[in-house]
Amino acid sequence: MQSTALRFKAEGKTIGLVPTMGALHEGHLSLIRKARIDANIVVVSIFVNPIQFGPAEDLQKYPRKLVTDLDLCEKERADFVFIPTEEEMYPKGFTTTVEVKGLSDVLCGAYRPGHFKGVTTVVSKLFNIAQPDLAYFGQKDAQQTIIIKRMAADLNMKTNIVVLPIVRDTDGLAMSSRNVYLSQEERKTALVLPKSLKVAESLIRSGERRAEVIKGRMMQLIQTRPGVRLEYIAVCDSEQLQERETVQPGDLIALAAWVGKTRLIDNVIV
Ligand code: PAJ
Repeated sequence: MQSTALRFKAEGKTIGLVPTMGALHEGHLSLIRKARIDANIVVVSIFVNPIQFGPAEDLQKYPRKLVTDLDLCEKERADFVFIPTEEEMYPKGFTTTVEVKGLSDVLCGAYRPGHFKGVTTVVSKLFNIAQPDLAYFGQKDAQQTIIIKRMAADLNMKTNIVVLPIVRDTDGLAMSSRNVYLSQEERKTALVLPKSLKVAESLIRSGERRAEVIKGRMMQLIQTRPGVRLEYIAVCDSEQLQERETVQPGDLIALAAWVGKTRLIDNVIV
């Protein structure tokens, strides 16, 4: 992959990379489509990255759909699909990691220790391998995009980070490879999460600025659904991820919650 990428670069071609863990859905496809518009060469990577999963997390049962994924990549006219093995990415003796301190320890990071270190390490490797001018990430994983932008800036990476909006199903639930875990009933229950973000938006639109009040109203709504176990709601700035007392334009309202055995995240930018 790297020598192929370097060959295209030598020809003056631009490369767009879409890093994924597969089980592709419309959220992923929106990234591939934008890359197809922006870049000469589109590379999609599919790698279920073991080092970003905690020991009690869903690495083993994470959906793997390689045949349909390849079909979708072809339909979206990706030029290359890079599918490394675990042994290729982490051969015997592998010991180097990339860590964005601070930003990786809050919100999701507080509940998933080591997760973002796994993400930044694999994304660094993918950038070195695929040599992208542009790399595409979804706002769905808001904290991930903030951490990756910080990493790219701090380590003088040449790749421009492009962030695209959350793609939602018609019922409002943010698309996720993990949504397949949800039963019909759980899916209905899960809709309270995007609804709570709508409540936050309309409160802010009607003049409310106090983070505690906004979070309180969101929690109130979520508590009407006994099947949801809220992990956190955060109202924070969208660069340093510092919690706010009063919400400001551009801030991030993010949440994580368990519905049954499925962990879901969602967010809006104010
Ligand atoms: P994965 O969960 O497969 O997501 C790949 C990319 O698709 C991420 O940038 C994610 O934010 C984006 N995405 C997922 N659901 C989306 C939605 N509903 N709307 C818009 N974009 C969406 O995120 C990862 O994989 C991994 O952590 C990875 C970056 C590949 C590193 O292993």
